[in-house]
Amino acid sequence: MDIIEAIKMRKSIRGFRPDPVSKEVLRGILEIASNAPSAMNTQPWEFTVLTGMVLENIRLGNVEMLNSGAMPHPEHIVVGWPLESVYRRRQVELAKQIFRLMGIPREDKQKRAEWMKRSLRYFDAPAAIIISVDRSLTEASPLLGIGAVMQNICLAALEYGLGTCIENQGAVYPEVLRKFTGIPGSKQIIISIAIGYPDWDFPANKVESSKEPVERVTTWCGFNQNMSL
Ligand SMILES: Cc1cc2nc3c(=O)[nH]c(=O)nc-3n(C[C@H](O)[C@H](O)[C@H](O)COP(=O)(O)O)c2cc1C
Repeated sequence: MDIIEAIKMRKSIRGFRPDPVSKEVLRGILEIASNAPSAMNTQPWEFTVLTGMVLENIRLGNVEMLNSGAMPHPEHIVVGWPLESVYRRRQVELAKQIFRLMGIPREDKQKRAEWMKRSLRYFDAPAAIIISVDRSLTEASPLLGIGAVMQNICLAALEYGLGTCIENQGAVYPEVLRKFTGIPGSKQIIISIAIGYPDWDFPANKVESSKEPVERVTTWCGFNQNMSL
């Protein structure tokens, strides 16, 4: 698949067919994705790949945590935005689009809670990838490397006909993940990625997230000078 085509094609998938994804395919994707850049080639990412009963137990565990009123783990709040900001506006636009496609009215708290549970269940994907980092790596650069590997996973998955959703929600209860996978406390759990074969009939898969025009987020410097040399 052409690189530009893949970048344009990738979108977050929130509804999957139940077909399993083989270990070979998942390993292939991780091998390709590991060709990501990282600061000083530190390669800070560590993958934990979930499927089968382990994934089922984690889905149940996450939902139980929500039902018990547990708050997301404090070290796991990776998304925050000021009210009245452009970031909040974009988030609201996305939520409105998802809820409209899913037929969830704004005031229907129960259906909204069901959607939240669905995201804690990795959108019922047949597999999920958890990315963690050793706590000895404390600066921002490991996270940048993890961002690169994360995008590579999502792009490489397309070549296998797979869809992905990078999910903060899938990692808000690290204690559940640690219980069923053995990820030790010395590793910080950063993010999850739901992965599987897309169910193209699932309404939320029709979301078309808007992107700001490049001109609005770019400052061009030095381009008006005579560059004829
Ligand atoms: C760090 C990160 C965390 C995310 N967490 C979630 C999440 O918890 N739930 C979800 O539905 N989507 C999540 N997403 C997906 C974003 O909502 C999605 O990338 C964004 O709306 C743009 O849409 P697109 O991926 O289809 O281009 C996350 C994406 C990133 C990069």
